[in-house]
Amino acid sequence: MSKTNVIFHQEEKVFHLNNGKVSYLIQIEEDGVVSHLYFGKSFESYSNHKKYPRRDRGFSGNVPGNSERAYSKDTLPQEFSSHGSMDYRIPSSIIRRESGSNLHDFRYFDYRIEDGKPELKGLPQVYTESDEEAKTLVLTLKDRDQEIYVDLIYTIYSDRPTITRSTKVRNLTANSISIEKIASMQMDLTNSGIYDEVISLPGAHVQERQLQREKINAGIKTFESRRGTTSHQMNSFIALVKHDTNEFSGPAIGLNFVYSGNHSFEIEKDQIDQLRVLIGINDYNFSWQLNSGESFQTPEVIMVYSDSGLNQMSNNYHHLLRERVARGIHKDRQRPILINNWEATYFDFTSEKIKKIVDEAANLGIEMFVLDDGWFGHRDNDNSSLGDWSEYKEKLSDGLKGVSDYVHQKGLKFGLWFEPEMISIDSKLYEQHPDYLMQEPGRSPSASRDQHLLDMGRKEVREAVETQIRKIFDTVNIDYVKWDMNRSMSDAYSIILNAQNQGETAHRYLLGVYELLENLTRDYPEILWEGCSGGGGRFDTGFLYYIPQSWTSDNTDAVERMNIQYSTSLAYPISSMTAHVSASPNHQTGRSTSLKTRGDVAMSGVFGYELDLEQLSAAEKEEIAEQVQSYQKIRPLVQYGDFIRLKSPYEGNTVAWMFVSQDQKEALLFLGRILTNAQAVFNEVKLAGLNKEFVYEDVETKEKYYGDELMTIGMYYPDFYGDYQTQMIHLRKI
Ligand code: DGJ
Repeated sequence: MSKTNVIFHQEEKVFHLNNGKVSYLIQIEEDGVVSHLYFGKSFESYSNHKKYPRRDRGFSGNVPGNSERAYSKDTLPQEFSSHGSMDYRIPSSIIRRESGSNLHDFRYFDYRIEDGKPELKGLPQVYTESDEEAKTLVLTLKDRDQEIYVDLIYTIYSDRPTITRSTKVRNLTANSISIEKIASMQMDLTNSGIYDEVISLPGAHVQERQLQREKINAGIKTFESRRGTTSHQMNSFIALVKHDTNEFSGPAIGLNFVYSGNHSFEIEKDQIDQLRVLIGINDYNFSWQLNSGESFQTPEVIMVYSDSGLNQMSNNYHHLLRERVARGIHKDRQRPILINNWEATYFDFTSEKIKKIVDEAANLGIEMFVLDDGWFGHRDNDNSSLGDWSEYKEKLSDGLKGVSDYVHQKGLKFGLWFEPEMISIDSKLYEQHPDYLMQEPGRSPSASRDQHLLDMGRKEVREAVETQIRKIFDTVNIDYVKWDMNRSMSDAYSIILNAQNQGETAHRYLLGVYELLENLTRDYPEILWEGCSGGGGRFDTGFLYYIPQSWTSDNTDAVERMNIQYSTSLAYPISSMTAHVSASPNHQTGRSTSLKTRGDVAMSGVFGYELDLEQLSAAEKEEIAEQVQSYQKIRPLVQYGDFIRLKSPYEGNTVAWMFVSQDQKEALLFLGRILTNAQAVFNEVKLAGLNKEFVYEDVETKEKYYGDELMTIGMYYPDFYGDYQTQMIHLRKI
């Protein structure tokens, strides 16, 4: 391990966070204004030559209390900008006092350096297993006039090019204050030429996380969610890159927000082409009342720096998220191959139908059966029963326990679907507790999929759901839970909050969800949890702290999945991405693809099936049995190997990625081509991540290759015939 240090150079008043991978420099300027000097590749010694230069610029006023004309907050790169002291760029905070004023000017007050990392109570986070793994700088700023303190918390991790950041506001005034905006991190980059483009992951339901790369122009650009969840529409991750950064070279800064609610990533290119980046809880519909003596802790952001392109950035996220965000016994265990009945039956099933699917699955070697939506209340469609978590006896003649016992007798594990945050008007829960539904009393709330949110910020509401779920866990043998959430938030109003606290509703809702997840995952540690929000609407690092895998998308079309899985891998590990083979023609797109193509694409994630096995021919069943066996052989490599993107489906007609084991003795290459033509060119690909000294053998064809040649001159794609063709090549060192 290289030395991880936070040094305070007293004379120059410079903090240097350094771990041999990255350096971060902060300076306390004249009058205690805290400036940002540097974030990037690590270096050892700093001579203070990079102090920010001064210049008198028209209409950029002075630092309050200082008449030096060349010293202005309007252009100074800072760590935490204040609102109302002539910094006209987007502010990191807006805090309103009783007087109605929101003018603040935060200056250096104090600092402390700690071993390890302080826990962020009630929030998902990167954790450490020992104090040697990290060092933390808590830099405290104070408003010039008021007893309002802001702690900027920086943790640097040993042997990872990673810094996490969060902010804590403490109110030591005699009155309450209202936080109307608070960023988890601010980073002002002096030379925007280094990072002139931004990558983000916008999308839609069944079209999540579509890689978007654009130039950063003057003005403000925001990537955000206002839907109460991470959202399908904009994932909580961006990367700053240089125009020529690619998968293997060039600088990249990844910014991954550990939060599952309304988020906001703001980038401003200012009047002299500098960049300000702010990340935090979205200020849309947000405010937080902080009484005298109280504090507010923001969620954190994981910053990763790479000097060798996007693959290196992703690799660091993959390791960190697997090793120090995901928790529980399943985080590094091989995940079972499952069959889910959703696309096979939708709501239309009985115990008998389920047993037939289970019989077929057992014959084919599938390892787990998951009973999806429709097993509870009187749910025959999506209009009813959410909130009533007890078995639907008319459908399940043997009861839930009967189904679970049957599945276990057949040698499979048993999983169950829940949507704990929801209530249907047509439910017993609503009959008994109409006020549990989140809405402003007297104002009719907006339905979506005929369902409404429970106010998860209320303890008694959470308990009503928790008691029912625990009863099932205590009486039925459950190995896996799929935690779904099928609408966006609206009517964000909580009847237990005062008028001035209503802006807290969405954040309190999420804190309630996190608390419920914490309780259940702690008390039922054997259960494997899978997150879901209509597919990947809540695919984020916050949820990963409680659950190690998520349903990547409701779109199971193999061709579209190549794009979704490719870009999801920018920020999230393969072990978190579930991928299923479904029927052809595909239910979302109507496209027909071969079972092989569907299998190859799904095998690049946490593998499973989602189709009616009874409808398949004997040949197809045989192929599935072979796929199951193949996946069992490559599973550790896929789920825990290093993932490398080689060819982007966003840039052409071909796709390629690969997995390499930590010891480089094994690798798996995935190749795909979308459309064909009569005179197709011969596509080529260069591999990466292999050991150039090793000789590899294709496990199937026994053909031999040198690691060196595969990475230098590459290989040809197979001469594919037809659209939507894929191939997997499994290499092993000989
Ligand atoms: C949305 C999920 O993404 C699907 O897989 C399925 O569980 C449905 N909800 C059930 O309502």
